[in-house]
Amino acid sequence: DVPPASYLPKSCGEFRVLVGVTGSVAALKLPLLVSQLLHLPGVDVRVVTTENAKHFYNPEEVSVNIYSDKDEWELWTQRSDPVLHIELRRWADLLVIAPLDANTLGKIASGICDNLLTCVVRAWDTSRPVLFCPAMNTAMWQHPITAQQVSKLKEFGYVEIPCIAKKLVCGDEGKGAMAEVSTIVSTVRQYLEKPDE
Ligand SMILES: Cc1cc2nc3c(=O)[nH]c(=O)nc-3n(C[C@H](O)[C@H](O)[C@H](O)COP(=O)(O)O)c2cc1C
Repeated sequence: DVPPASYLPKSCGEFRVLVGVTGSVAALKLPLLVSQLLHLPGVDVRVVTTENAKHFYNPEEVSVNIYSDKDEWELWTQRSDPVLHIELRRWADLLVIAPLDANTLGKIASGICDNLLTCVVRAWDTSRPVLFCPAMNTAMWQHPITAQQVSKLKEFGYVEIPCIAKKLVCGDEGKGAMAEVSTIVSTVRQYLEKPDE
């Protein structure tokens, strides 16, 4: 479903959380994450998804608008039309990327913006919080480029919600699993309590 432009003005929620979701198996948790975020007082939620993330969740289990690359281009046909990634960055008070996979981590670290999510990140108002929740196979996590890229995001002022060690879906055991949904939600909650930070 293509969201009409009228979706974009601010909605009734007092604090607008944009959830970015990428192609990690942890994207399975998107429906749970969204429903838990909606339980926070005065919070409105929307989702920006990569195409690969769509393999992992059922959009019918997510009760808020989910935007993807197709929406960006269908919304814009002429000069006077809104540009979705700019409208979304204006709309949102906070961005939480959960899960952040290795591919999109690398893209964000080097400034690449080739889809709706990475354009939102690139155009982000850096006075507003960006939280990121890495999730990848242990071997990917241990590759030396990961620490460099995570440091780069922290230099930008983004806040890491660290991955955890557990038995991963692929069978490997070790660090790389996305933080628990409860940890992510309680981190977002801290920004509701101190919206200026
Ligand atoms: C079943 C499956 C599970 C995957 N899980 C992960 C993961 O947990 N973390 C990760 O970094 N990449 C994972 N990948 C690889 C990404 O999906 C791949 O790098 C993709 O290009 C990411 O695209 P995106 O960043 O645009 O969403 C997985 C791939 C498959 C097929």
